[in-house]
Amino acid sequence: MTHAAMMTGFGNEFATEAIQGALPQGRNSPQRPALGLYAEQLSGTPFTVPRREARRSWMYRIRPSARHPAYRPLPHPGLGAALAPPTPNRLRWDPLPMPDAPTDFVAGLFTMVAAAEAPAAGVSVHLYHANRPMHRVFWSADGELLIVPQQGALTLATELGRFTVAPGEIAVIPRGIRFRANPAHETARGYIAENHGATLRLPDLGPIGANGLANPRDFETPAAWFEDREEPTEIVQKYQHRLFAAGLDHSPFDVVAWHGNLAPYRYDLARFMAINTVSFDHADPSIFTVLTAPTDTAGTANLDFVIFPPRWTVAEDTFRPPWFHRNVMNECMGLIHGVYDGKKGGFEPGGLSLHPMMSAHGPDAAVTEAAMEAQLVPHRIANTLAFMFETRHLLRPTEAALALAQLQAGYDQVWDSLPRHFAGHPR
Ligand SMILES: [Fe+2]
Repeated sequence: MTHAAMMTGFGNEFATEAIQGALPQGRNSPQRPALGLYAEQLSGTPFTVPRREARRSWMYRIRPSARHPAYRPLPHPGLGAALAPPTPNRLRWDPLPMPDAPTDFVAGLFTMVAAAEAPAAGVSVHLYHANRPMHRVFWSADGELLIVPQQGALTLATELGRFTVAPGEIAVIPRGIRFRANPAHETARGYIAENHGATLRLPDLGPIGANGLANPRDFETPAAWFEDREEPTEIVQKYQHRLFAAGLDHSPFDVVAWHGNLAPYRYDLARFMAINTVSFDHADPSIFTVLTAPTDTAGTANLDFVIFPPRWTVAEDTFRPPWFHRNVMNECMGLIHGVYDGKKGGFEPGGLSLHPMMSAHGPDAAVTEAAMEAQLVPHRIANTLAFMFETRHLLRPTEAALALAQLQAGYDQVWDSLPRHFAGHPR
């Protein structure tokens, strides 16, 4: 598949047309749009939000999306599973194997943890596994999809354009946008944070200033592209954690031109400018926030997407690994490749950990002992990329995730051998 050029900038007001003259000038909804197209608006935020919050795009398409028959329920074993009762325990899973059966991106979705409030608020964390292309089209009414590939690139065809996303990159598909996600090669797997809250955006930088962390110009949005296909196409939507399918008689990827600021985007995590101490201690992990979905309470995110990229660690007289911690927020971590600096083993690329609200966690015993003995020379943490989905909403595992053979029975034991060092009262 060849791809149209990408446009750069975060949340920009883009304007793009696959056929010259398809995009109306001076108005959004002309009486008769050029080329016999229909105008249709996709509103990602309520009409009346403050202007800085507003996300919407206008599409000029061969047929309006409204032209579809009723959706019928489509059973799916991995989605819509019941949440387990709340558990305060720390949980960790090994990576799931690639399925043997032919499995497309939709069939391979599996919900691991979710907020009880979802899909009205909070976040759901899914894994995906795909070993064959989709012969259908998918979209979520429940939230925007932050896709974090872990193995194998995905080729994404969306209503608003096409692009690939590879491990080390992320893609965000807005709520409501139709798409196909196909393995670029034989197989693909990764993580998805389905954000049921306000749309993701770049964090404020405060004293950091105008540059750093993820820079707006490194975000890429595809240019308009369309297919004019009059053939049966199944369209599948995720709605209230259940799937529903309908048959179209045409491809829904028929948007010839569009403009607006609600669109899929891609970001290469290698472009992230990591900031941290050059003296002692280290900053809270929020210093590595790539994207954040705020709530009405300042600084209390529905979803923070935080990465732990390759970087130098130089702190003097400092316990350098991620410190021991109890957090009012809920932490769900994944590993794209390499070794996370807080864990010596057991946290594998493709695995997942959950540290729910106020659960005690931190580096394992081996990492802790080594860090307390280490000679504190400048050290490069190399060849690794871990990430965290952090949310104010309590995350609960699904019953299905708790039933997985990959759930580690002995996770608590990674801290068991932490020795007592206390020397007692000095005399
Ligand atoms: Fe933590």
